[in-house]
Parts: sequence; structure tokens; C-alpha cells
Amino acid sequence: MGGMKGILLAGGLGTRLYPVTTGLNKQMLPVYNKPMIYYPLSILMLAGIREILVISNPDDIPRIQSVLKDGSHWGLDLQYAVQDAPRGIAEAFLIGKEFLNGSPACLVLGDNLFYGRGLPAILRQAAELTEGAIAFACPVADPTRFGIVAFDEEGHVVSLEEKPKVPQSNFAVIGLYFYDGKVCDMAAELKPSRRGELEITDLNNAYLAQGKLQARVLGRGTAWMDAGTPQALLEASAFVAAIETRQGLLISSPEEIALRMGFVSVDQYRAILAATPPSEYRDALVRVLQDFQSPQVP
Ligand code: TTP
Repeated sequence: MGGMKGILLAGGLGTRLYPVTTGLNKQMLPVYNKPMIYYPLSILMLAGIREILVISNPDDIPRIQSVLKDGSHWGLDLQYAVQDAPRGIAEAFLIGKEFLNGSPACLVLGDNLFYGRGLPAILRQAAELTEGAIAFACPVADPTRFGIVAFDEEGHVVSLEEKPKVPQSNFAVIGLYFYDGKVCDMAAELKPSRRGELEITDLNNAYLAQGKLQARVLGRGTAWMDAGTPQALLEASAFVAAIETRQGLLISSPEEIALRMGFVSVDQYRAILAATPPSEYRDALVRVLQDFQSPQVP
């Protein structure tokens, strides 16, 4: 038992990005100026989570490890575990059982990007969960392609369906979930679906059946993207480039978040800078420190 721990699920086949993913794990691809995996990792960090299990394919774990290392330079404790084959998102809780050891958990998918006003506060609040589950949802244009959650007039979840032919709403469940300490036991009860996967929608439905699933809608103020197709990857890169260039800030930089969350001291941050090769990214990290030490009003 203890505080909330994180699981970053970064396996999968990445078939929709073939042939780019033949030699490279999807989560190692760039989204503009950073490896894709930085974005979901940043979300866990913003939730205040420092103990994180990264799950990926056997061949990809060493490469991810060479990028993120043990996390200590960012004030994190990163551990790694293998998923032999993509047997479904909910399998994360069979693989992560020992790591979680009864703690509540936040699961984030390795190819999901989130950006928006107020998100850090929403994440920190969700990370206080001790009972039940919290899923997040965003409106989408084509609800037949997603897990769809529908609400009653009081905002309670009434249904949760994977890729429904007749969608009951246009709110898609996004790749970010919070669960209580019973999640591994709940996941152990799941049976593989027709496509042979342990479905995250089935896990969420198990919580719903007990009246313990909340779904929170992230509205217009939040951008949610998954970078799983060539077009989505291009759009995600363009989005990050547009905001970072225009506003001169970084989206989902683990270094910046570590500093602002107090996971590293200013001295530790300077050590990061000293070890960072000259690059636009390093220039941006230098500006972060300047702003941190003498913020412009307001
Ligand atoms: P998907 O996009 O559903 O699958 P994928 O990444 O294999 O891509 P494709 O459909 O193009 O083959 O996966 C969503 C995220 O979850 C992604 O970050 C990979 C991860 N994932 C796993 O790590 N293990 C799994 O068993 C599954 C199903 C997904």
C-alpha cells in the first residue's frame, strides 16, 4: 500500500505506422522535438507520480531504457517490465501486480498526448483516488472508432462500449486511467475478448458494474491526441511545434516538470543542462531555468 504509482504502457505493434515501426518502437518516434514517450511520462509527473513502471516489448525495453534510464536524474524511480506480446491494455495490471503491490495506479498509454489549461490540477486531484476508478473522456468527431462513454442527466456513467456501431454519445475514453488498489484483482478476472486481448473497456465496465466508475469530461480547453497513424503523428508534431514556437515554451518536457514539481533542485537541474548537448531543446531548458528563478508577472 502507499501513494499512487504509475504505469506507462509503451508496447504494441504499431501496425498502423508500418513501415516506420519496423525498426523502431512507436513510442520512440519523434513528436516534433521529443520522443513520443516524453508526453505520457510528463502526464504522470504532473500528477505527482514518481514511481513508474514502463512496460514494452522484449526488444524495445533496452532502447527505451537507454532513453529514460532509471529516471533518477529527473527525480523519478523508473522500473521496466516486458509484455511478451500485445495481449491488451488491461494486461498491464497482470504484469504490474508486483510493482503496484496493492497501491492505487494511474495508467497512461504511450502514444497519447494531452495538453490543456488546468490539466495539472485535474491530474493531481485524480491522483488522490483511493476507491473506484476514474476515466477521462473527450468529444470526438467519429465515435465509432473509440471506446465511448455515455452519461445520465446527473453525469453518472450509464454505458461504456468499445467501438459501438450505434454510439450513445460522442465522448471517447482517452488513454489515461486512475484505479484503486483492487485493480490487479479486478484485471485477473478478465477474459480475453474476441480479438484475443484483455480489454481496458472490460476492466472499466467491471468497475461500472460495482457502481465505482467515474468518467470526467475534458472539454474544449484540453487537447487530446493519439499519435498512432501517420496523419495523427504529423498533426501532433504540428500542434506541439505551433504552440512551442509561438509561445516560446515547452510542452511535456520532463526536465522542466521535474524542476517545477520540485522533483529536482536547481543544482540538479544545472547538472542536467551541463549534460545536455547544444540544441534548440537545451536553449529552451535554459530559458525554463531563467523563468523559474525570475518569473515574469503575472
Ligand atoms: P494501439 O494503438 O491499440 O495498438 P498499437 O500501438 O499496437 O498500434 P496498431 O494498432 O497500429 O498496431 O495501442 C495503444 C497503446 O497501448 C500504444 O501506446 C501501445 C500500447 N499497447 C501495449 O503496450 N500493449 C498492448 O497489448 C496494447 C493492445 C497496446
